[in-house]
Amino acid sequence: MSRTIQKKPEGGSTNSRHLGSSGRQSSLPEPSKPIASVIDVFCGAGGLSHGFFLEDFVISCGIDADEACRYPFEYNNRAPFVCKDIKDVAPEEVEEEFIPDAPRILVGCAPCQPFSKYTQAREDPKWRLLDDFAALITKVRPDVVSMENVPQLVHFKGGELFDSFIRRLELVGYEIAWEIACCPNFGVPQNRSRLVLIASLHGKPMMPVSTHEPNDYVTARNAIGMMPPLSAGEIHSQDSLHRASRLSAVNLDRIRLSTPGRTWRDWPEHLVTDCHKRPSGRSYASVYGRMAWDEPAPTMTTQFYGFGNGRFGHPEQDRAISLREGAILQSFPPCYGFVAPGKPIKLKTVGRMIGNAVPVKLARAIARAIKRHLSEIGL
Ligand SMILES: C[S@@+](CC[C@H](N)C(=O)[O-])C[C@H]1O[C@@H](n2cnc3c(N)ncnc32)[C@H](O)[C@@H]1O
Repeated sequence: MSRTIQKKPEGGSTNSRHLGSSGRQSSLPEPSKPIASVIDVFCGAGGLSHGFFLEDFVISCGIDADEACRYPFEYNNRAPFVCKDIKDVAPEEVEEEFIPDAPRILVGCAPCQPFSKYTQAREDPKWRLLDDFAALITKVRPDVVSMENVPQLVHFKGGELFDSFIRRLELVGYEIAWEIACCPNFGVPQNRSRLVLIASLHGKPMMPVSTHEPNDYVTARNAIGMMPPLSAGEIHSQDSLHRASRLSAVNLDRIRLSTPGRTWRDWPEHLVTDCHKRPSGRSYASVYGRMAWDEPAPTMTTQFYGFGNGRFGHPEQDRAISLREGAILQSFPPCYGFVAPGKPIKLKTVGRMIGNAVPVKLARAIARAIKRHLSEIGL
């Protein structure tokens, strides 16, 4: 696959085979056999891959059409990024990237927006990308596949798309297990549900095992309570991703009068937005809100950095949460790099990569389930 790796990630050698064993000195011990070789289609900034990386899988490469994902994917996962539209990816190119003699895992989380309630009405043609993913799987036939998406996918077009995805895989020999995973059950400090599907050519795959119960869910306070305070519009001197968007004077007045768990209905009339005054807007209670400290945060969308876009106000400071706080609530490690040093940081671009990601702790649970399956079947 033709590509250029712009920067070798720091912190040791790459784990891909591209450095090759021929460059190793003979005195070094032979590396142990990798658990498996993972290729991530629609890899984004690498949330899904990073879960596998932290569980010691070898990430062989990530493929995505958005060049902005190159830096975070390569830097944090020590693997090459290929900037390509899935439609232009030939099955042979994918096959070439897997490590020879290691179990082959293909993972993918196609864009979720086409399946959301809001965009279903507008017919976003991106839903077809799931078919492209199915076509790639049936041609490459990796040992194990993992597919994530929003739960609404199951019922999209009366269930036709999801059923056809499953049927296509079954026809080429896969056994499939799937469920709607509740992210707080996996230690993610965020109320988010995801469809998780695992398919295997070697028997019934296992599902991720919960690590948390409601009485020990990780809360917003546990996750971001120790972050240095910020004002709206401020950038922290030590971490340029700990930056909060500016607030207009009226939005500052609004957030000052907002309390966790309450809504804009508490505001005096002159602060209520015009759209909320209209009958059609009165039901939108969960925008312009503050998140609560002692429960998991609301679902991070691609616009979580905006106070008006959801319940994304900080629990006690007069600002929306910062990019870094959003990433931590998605369970990315606090040092995950999203933009190359010295490059400009755009709220919209980084917010999109963070909000689109599969939470890393959910991804780790998926990786552990696949690891158990591989071990059970002796691969
Ligand atoms: C839900 S996000 C993936 C998130 C990622 N797995 C993670 O955990 O960080 C979907 C990704 O699909 C990519 N994408 C959209 N259309 C694409 C296409 N035609 N070919 C390849 N990638 C595409 C987007 O750029 C986006 O990064």
